[in-house]
Amino acid sequence: MRDELILVVGGTGTTGSRVVARLRERGVAVRVASRGGEPRFDWTDRTTWDWALAGVTAMYVVPFDGQSLTRPFVGRAVAKGVERIVLLSGRGVDVPGYAGEAGAAGPTHVDGEAAVRALGTGSGTGTGVRWTIVRPAWFAQNFSEGFFLDAVLTGELRLAAGDGAASFVDAEDIAAVAVAALTEDGHGGRTYELSGPRALTIAEALTEISGAAGREIRYVPLSPEEFVTELRTQGLSAAEAADYAESLSPLRRGLDSHVSDGVRRALGRAPRDFREFVKSAAADGAWRQSDAI
Ligand SMILES: NC(=O)c1ccc[n+]([C@@H]2O[C@H](COP(=O)([O-])OP(=O)(O)OC[C@H]3O[C@@H](n4cnc5c(N)ncnc54)[C@H](OP(=O)(O)O)[C@@H]3O)[C@@H](O)[C@H]2O)c1
Repeated sequence: MRDELILVVGGTGTTGSRVVARLRERGVAVRVASRGGEPRFDWTDRTTWDWALAGVTAMYVVPFDGQSLTRPFVGRAVAKGVERIVLLSGRGVDVPGYAGEAGAAGPTHVDGEAAVRALGTGSGTGTGVRWTIVRPAWFAQNFSEGFFLDAVLTGELRLAAGDGAASFVDAEDIAAVAVAALTEDGHGGRTYELSGPRALTIAEALTEISGAAGREIRYVPLSPEEFVTELRTQGLSAAEAADYAESLSPLRRGLDSHVSDGVRRALGRAPRDFREFVKSAAADGAWRQSDAI
């Protein structure tokens, strides 16, 4: 029997770093794949893939949005003997019209999921590979370490999200589900849609964050056209601006407000509430005034 070694692709990011921490807490051997690692792993340089996969028994994969690299990477991994795969995807990938033409992540997730499903039932029969797909809603951590943070620190979050609500999921729950799927039985062949226990609009989320941060952080709704124009003045390319605006479109259209049961299905407990996320992010200093720009 081989020694267990779990590869975490994207192990320096929002979900991957939490997966790494939880695995290490359990005493599991972990390899972090990232561009800053030694040796370096780069999705766009296939010569860096094999070292990352050497000796690996299981892996958590944060895909490279905008390209269809999950499929060849999974193929290489299976050829090298990886027996268990947990793939991060996104809620809405199977909903017609959810992602628009400009969205970069949608096609990456659709193709990545298809590549993993093609390995068989996922329960260990067929190719023998156990796979689990994790489809999270919008991350709560977008406000504390993701793409909303810089604006939140200025006291004004300007977005083309309308009054749409989202059932933000805590990345701690995403990591907990991923780790369960990587280390326990009973998750093979399952697709877990993950959300928090309630939906909040951006304005409601910022009201909760303002309370914890001790200062007002306002939401300024913009039209998609205004939003794209602002992003362009901030230096984003036309394609990047269109992609960001498009990624907000499901939220604006109210497609992200439903609550999913994946955390309970996978872990047998309720998901963390947004309030708990706000409390712990504030305690970690996510919105400290001195960090404001
Ligand atoms: N944010 C949301 O609300 C949300 C909701 C649903 C689904 N998702 C999906 O979640 C995924 C993002 O997950 P995340 O937030 O955990 O990740 P993240 O924080 O965005 O981090 C991205 C990770 O990928 C690595 N990376 C970036 N470019 C790379 C490259 N060329 N080669 C190798 N590694 C590279 C980064 O590592 P280094 O920079 O260290 O190399 C980092 O570890 C996306 O697929 C997105 O579509 C996001």
